[in-house]
Amino acid sequence: MFKSFVDCVRDIYRCDAFIPLHEPRFTGREKEYVMETINSTFVSSVGSFVEKFERLVADYTGCRYAVATVNGTAALHMSLLLADVGQNDEVITQSLTFAATCAAIRYCGANPVFVDVDRTSLGLSPESLLEFLHENTEKDRRGLCRNRQSGKIIRACVPMHTFGHPARLTEIAEICSEYNLVLIEDAAESLGSMYKNRHTGRFGKMSVFSFNGNKIITTGGGGMIVTDDESLAVRAKHLTTTAKKKHPWLYEHDEVGFNYRMPNLNAALGCAQMEQLKNFVIRKRELASEYTTWAGQQRVELVTEPVDAYSNYWLNALLLKDRNERDSFLEFTNGNGVMTRPVWKPLHTLPMYKRDFSRNLQNTNWLAERLVNIPSSVVLNDE
Ligand SMILES: Cc1ncc(COP(=O)(O)O)c(C=O)c1O
Repeated sequence: MFKSFVDCVRDIYRCDAFIPLHEPRFTGREKEYVMETINSTFVSSVGSFVEKFERLVADYTGCRYAVATVNGTAALHMSLLLADVGQNDEVITQSLTFAATCAAIRYCGANPVFVDVDRTSLGLSPESLLEFLHENTEKDRRGLCRNRQSGKIIRACVPMHTFGHPARLTEIAEICSEYNLVLIEDAAESLGSMYKNRHTGRFGKMSVFSFNGNKIITTGGGGMIVTDDESLAVRAKHLTTTAKKKHPWLYEHDEVGFNYRMPNLNAALGCAQMEQLKNFVIRKRELASEYTTWAGQQRVELVTEPVDAYSNYWLNALLLKDRNERDSFLEFTNGNGVMTRPVWKPLHTLPMYKRDFSRNLQNTNWLAERLVNIPSSVVLNDE
């Protein structure tokens, strides 16, 4: 099966050299737009591409407002701050996620609480969330959700759409509303993915996308907060742009702000990439379908989009039999010039989160031993 996989990938990408896990594609007007910023000298915090990019993302996702940031981690940090997450609070999330999800929680002085993920969607499990809340929390006098064990207030819940596959958002949203938790989607990986015909990012009070170099579209580095709430959007823009009061020449800041804004140069790249997003999603789904055919022939399990979801298939993943098979597969494929990699080490096992509360992470641990990402760059016509 290992050799057959390497042959399959080489066949798809028509390439005998090294094949990376994910490379960006600059097949549109990227150079033209970036040159425009250079020629105009507006490469930094002023320029028209930032607003254009924000509008393009808002329109694509169906969210009313979008605020561009320097990266997805900053967007997460800002969203949590705007959800009033602070010192000694708790935030529920999944352990099977990229480190940034939890780092942002810690930046606020809060602690993560880890619940399990679904084996099929790979996203936060509504059952695990509900069980945790039911068994461990109570409402305080203000109606806030308090963890009975730690005595801390749980302010928010951050599900993540793993590899672009949407988590079960309607159920998660219902539970969050019942327990008075602010829902923030970590949609860093899921631009272009829908759940029940709504774009991911539209279920949370605020949601976050990333445009890091390895994402479905890239701005080099970049992120976005999306929301339907005008006051949150205005506040996000103000705080991410140093909290400077609007004035043609005076420098006056009305609170401690953040320099989290996206430079115009990056937004120019983003505008050109957005023009190709629809096509990238189609191409990614075609690639997933080629992998599905191969996996069917080889009796190997490929992760496919969950029920009710339309996935961007950002990163394809195989679910191998056990840790031994996973490690042999990684060894063989990487040794033969086809890049593959295991899923992130679950965050509850890392030294800085070991002491945080986690609840029965059976699926998380099971998946972590078996999941392997495989090459998923958009296949170009001439490949
Ligand atoms: C799930 C998840 N959350 C957050 C981030 C952080 O985004 P960024 O790298 O743009 O800071 C990433 C990706 O990098 C991610 O995959």
